[in-house]
Amino acid sequence: MFKTLPGFREFYPDDYAAREDMFARWRRTARSFGFEEFSPPVLEQTELFTEKSGEEIKSQLFEFVDKGGRAVSLRPEMTPSLARMVGARAGGMRRPVKWFAIGENYRYERQQKGRLRAFFQYNADILGEESVGADAEIIALAVESLRALGLGRDEFRIRLGDRKLWSLFLNACGVPDGRSIQVLSAVDKFGKVPPEAMEEMLAEALNGGSGLAPVLMDKIRRFMSIGDIDGMLDIFKEADSDCRAELERRVSDWRELLSALDALGVGGFVVPDLGIVRGLAYYTGFVFEAFQSVGKGRALAGGGRYDALVGKLGYQDMPAVGFGMGDVTVSDLLELVGKKICADTSPDIYLVVGSEDVRPKALEIASALRSAGFSLDYPFKSGSFAKQFRQADALKAKFAVIIAQDELGRNAAKVKNLKSGEEFECGFSELPSRLR
Ligand code: HAM
Repeated sequence: MFKTLPGFREFYPDDYAAREDMFARWRRTARSFGFEEFSPPVLEQTELFTEKSGEEIKSQLFEFVDKGGRAVSLRPEMTPSLARMVGARAGGMRRPVKWFAIGENYRYERQQKGRLRAFFQYNADILGEESVGADAEIIALAVESLRALGLGRDEFRIRLGDRKLWSLFLNACGVPDGRSIQVLSAVDKFGKVPPEAMEEMLAEALNGGSGLAPVLMDKIRRFMSIGDIDGMLDIFKEADSDCRAELERRVSDWRELLSALDALGVGGFVVPDLGIVRGLAYYTGFVFEAFQSVGKGRALAGGGRYDALVGKLGYQDMPAVGFGMGDVTVSDLLELVGKKICADTSPDIYLVVGSEDVRPKALEIASALRSAGFSLDYPFKSGSFAKQFRQADALKAKFAVIIAQDELGRNAAKVKNLKSGEEFECGFSELPSRLR
């Protein structure tokens, strides 16, 4: 007997309908914000991810050598492919580029609740716009995409961090420029690993001993606990004037972003939290994660600004900001709070076939009603009326259209509205308009 591989799901029709409903709501929301849909390839050159995504993703790749001897990987994320697609045609593109995609990604992760090896991700990104307004638009879209599923302030929050502020802070602490990415990926593990392991990771990130790790650890803890703008200004009190000037510029970006989020009606969902740094290597500015605020605080979405990625792929530099939202944690949360969503897959019509001799006419009518836009099902063998009506109920059909010898002579059918119980006779040619 064959089983599905660990971390892979199979979707039976009910689960599939729920998934498609989620995607349909995400699509509608993204389009309402003026985003266009795109689709990157599932398989890419391994180097695209090893060079651009960062250490953690490197260890999680589904990678192999294809029959042409190329080192390839299933995509663990879509952002590097998006950056390439936009970079390659940037010259002729209307800006800002506002694109979204929904697709499956693959990461060979350790098995744990909420983390699979194949998961769907809804990505939305704005490229070619450096202003804070684009960050606000992306965060608002993330919030509205979760609200479109029926989730609200009781269920999730957006935690907003800032890699730019972190670089200012790490500079002020004497961390060499070249090491800050490593320090930030250690910081990303803060709270997820014991303090001793954390100190070790920091020392490693600082390229060996240097004695800076224990002092830095203490400062980092204080920096991470800052939850508002005044706190940001406070922590740099002793910094030199250049650093203070940069800090003040950045704090004014924070003010602008928070007030835009308020104006967009999502301010109440957003909490400043400098503990959010994000594990991926390419982020350069504001970063954020959507966390569920009930049950285990799992991440529903993550994103931020990555102004250098397009340039690093060899194209002209282009500012960018976006997010990825996963279907696994979002579905788990919907189930936890009893807000399951599901597309209506029931047919409009169940055609009851009175006897085998009317079947040719029944099939003709089935075909005509389907062409008129109705979804319709019928039995392959005409059993008793009772049995056929039971099937219509089980399928949750809206109407039963009965094709039987009696009405056939009048070119008509009996129709029953299965919700209201109302019954009427109707000529074949009027069926589409009467059923609409
Ligand atoms: P990420 O934080 O790696 O970011 O993933 C975003 C979301 O995808 C997570 O918050 C989680 O919901 C979901 N996710 C990630 N890994 C798994 C997994 N193994 N199983 C289930 N769900 C998972 C990115 O991927 C960035 N590329 C997002 C982005 C787009 N940044 C800018 N634009």
